Amino acid sequence: MTTKTQYNALQELTSKDLHLKNKIVMAPMTRSRAINNLPNDLMATYYGQRASVGLIITEGTSPSPNGLGYSSIPGIYSNLQTDKWKKISTTVHKKEGKIFMQLMHTGRISHKENMPEGARILAPSAVRPSGEMWTDQSGMQPFPIPEAMSLEDINQSINEFTQAAENAINAGFDGIELHGANGYLLEQFLNPEVNKRNDTFGGSLENRIRYVYEVTKAVVQRIGAKKVGIRLSPFNTFNDMPLYDNVYETYQHLVEKLNSLDINYIHLVEGPSLNQDNGPSLLSKIREIFSNTIILNGGYDLERAEHAISSGQADLISFGRPLISNPDFVERLKNQWDIAEANPATFYSPGEKGYTDYPTFD
Ligand SMILES: Cc1cc2nc3c(=O)[nH]c(=O)nc-3n(C[C@H](O)[C@H](O)[C@H](O)COP(=O)(O)O)c2cc1C
Repeated sequence: MTTKTQYNALQELTSKDLHLKNKIVMAPMTRSRAINNLPNDLMATYYGQRASVGLIITEGTSPSPNGLGYSSIPGIYSNLQTDKWKKISTTVHKKEGKIFMQLMHTGRISHKENMPEGARILAPSAVRPSGEMWTDQSGMQPFPIPEAMSLEDINQSINEFTQAAENAINAGFDGIELHGANGYLLEQFLNPEVNKRNDTFGGSLENRIRYVYEVTKAVVQRIGAKKVGIRLSPFNTFNDMPLYDNVYETYQHLVEKLNSLDINYIHLVEGPSLNQDNGPSLLSKIREIFSNTIILNGGYDLERAEHAISSGQADLISFGRPLISNPDFVERLKNQWDIAEANPATFYSPGEKGYTDYPTFD
């Protein structure tokens, strides 16, 4: 019988671009502890506690004041932010961990009350998401109508992504992950119900893909393809992203383009959207097209992770909620110790509670 420590998921990954001590990845998770959008010591403690995973992907971090849609999320556009992130990368590296920074521009999922003075709520088109979002000052508020980006805004945002990627590398990170999932700016361009543009960034499938491709290409040119990954969530409906006819073709073509850039990995979000009905054929198509690392995510446990890796569907599996409540997650998997449940009430609350105070297994 195979003991858990012999599981493939718990062994090293050695690929041409990545060397990780195991195949367990910490999924990016916004925790809203970055007061004034600045990384801090508490965040260094949190990430340091979790450095036994093969790879940590940080919480969504904004490349621009315009991408700070939620309160107390960090940025990576200023010198001060870049400087403060250094302590986090150093803490993880001291524990022989690896860490990529997720670059998240929230686009239309935003509210002025969450943003610094002068920041703008931008989107491919002036299409308001239905629903409400949290603001610290006034509680739940309806989403505002975003401004449609001009071509100048588009170029500026591409420059912001490339500068942010360079800042992340200067702050000691091993790479960056572009957040192309869950209804934020990059995915807003992909979806024809949200992107109503009639210039070269909207309309045809080729045009809707252009922004994601151009951002990725520019970042690759700046920091090198092996330091770049991207997160995608085909069939996503979260953040008011309606389904559309050619989701499959859109992602097939996008992945072909991303493969031509030779980026390090694609990180796919499964779950309610990409599911048993629509998922398997698209996932195997993506696996076939994309030559480098595939990370799968969404509701995994060790047994499913082992199956996905051993059957060749994925190279790595990322875990979200279990990494919130189990700082020693890898140790627990190896020893078959109980996995603690995370408490949603403290996902985004300030301070140590529900953040750095989850104990290791006793
Ligand atoms: C508190 C919380 C914050 C999250 N923030 C982000 C984020 O900043 N970026 C992102 O791509 N996904 C984010 N996610 C989604 C997770 O990365 C992951 O896809 C999700 O939790 C499903 O994985 P799991 O079943 O292993 O938890 C967040 C999830 C949670 C629970």
